[in-house]
Amino acid sequence: MSMRILLASFALAVVGIIAGVGARAEPLSGDAKQGAQLYRACAACHSLTPDRNMTGPSLAGIWGRKAGSLKSFERYSPALKASNVVWGENTLDQWLKSPAQFIPNNHMTFTGIPNARQRADLIAFLKEAGSGQPPTAEGQGGGGMMGGMAPQFHDLKKLGLDRQVRAIRICHDSYFVTTANGKTTPFWEANLRFKTDSSDTGPLRGKPVILPAGMMGDRASVFFAAPEEISQFIKHQCRGEAHDQ
Ligand code: HEC
Repeated sequence: MSMRILLASFALAVVGIIAGVGARAEPLSGDAKQGAQLYRACAACHSLTPDRNMTGPSLAGIWGRKAGSLKSFERYSPALKASNVVWGENTLDQWLKSPAQFIPNNHMTFTGIPNARQRADLIAFLKEAGSGQPPTAEGQGGGGMMGGMAPQFHDLKKLGLDRQVRAIRICHDSYFVTTANGKTTPFWEANLRFKTDSSDTGPLRGKPVILPAGMMGDRASVFFAAPEEISQFIKHQCRGEAHDQ
C-alpha cells in the first residue's frame, strides 16, 4: 500500500469519527414514559390543558408552535417573542439544556437539564402530550402520572362552607377571617395573602374563598374574583366594635 493511500484512508477514518461525533450530538430518541416522570419539574409552571396558563404558558400544542405565540398568554418576554424559534426536537433540546443560553433574557426561571438522555425522554413526552391532541385525564394534575407536583384546579365556586369567606376584619397586625361554617380564624397579617382568580374556575364576585397555603398550617390565601373587591371586603375593626381608620 502506498503512503498516499494510507494517508487517504487515515483521513477518511478521521472524517468518519468526526461524523460519528456529530451524529451523537443530535438529539437522542427518547422514552416518553420516562419523560412523563421528568415533566414533574415543569408541571408546577406548565399545564397540558389548552389555554390553562400558569406561571408559564400551556404546553398543549407546543409541538410545531412558534415560540411566544400562544394568544391567551400575556406574559411572554420580548426575547421569546422575537426569537423566531419553532418548537421541535432540536429547538426544545437546546432550550431545555439551557434556556438562558438559547434565548437570552427570557423569563423562564429554570436552569436547564444537563443530561442529554433526560432531555430526549422529556422531548419524547412533549411530542406526545403537547402535539395538539386534547390531553387525556391522566395527563392532568390530580392523580395519574403527574399526581403530586401539578397544582390541582379546584373549582373555587364549589368549595365547602369552611372555605367560603363571609367576612374579614383587620385589627392592628391581625386579620380575622370568618367562614360560612361560623368559624373565625386569626392570621398574622404577613401570613395571609390576597389573590385574584379570573379564570372560569375562580370564585364568584363578592364570594371570596380561603385555601390553606404552605406546609405549616399558619398561612392561607384568600381568592377574590377581581382586585377591586379586596379592600371593600376587609373591614377595620377591633374587639368586635366597628371603628373607622
Ligand atoms: C418556574 C416556572 C417554570 C418552570 C419550572 C418551567 N417553565 Fe417553561 N416557561 C416558564 C415561563 C414563565 C415561560 C415564558 C418565558 C418567556 O416568555 O420568556 C416558559 C416558556 C416555556 C416554553 C416556550 C413556550 C412557548 O409558548 O413558546 C417551553 C417550551 C417551556 N417553557 C418548556 C418547559 C419545560 C419542558 C419545563 C420542564 C423541564 C419547563 N418549561 C419548566 C416557566 C417555567
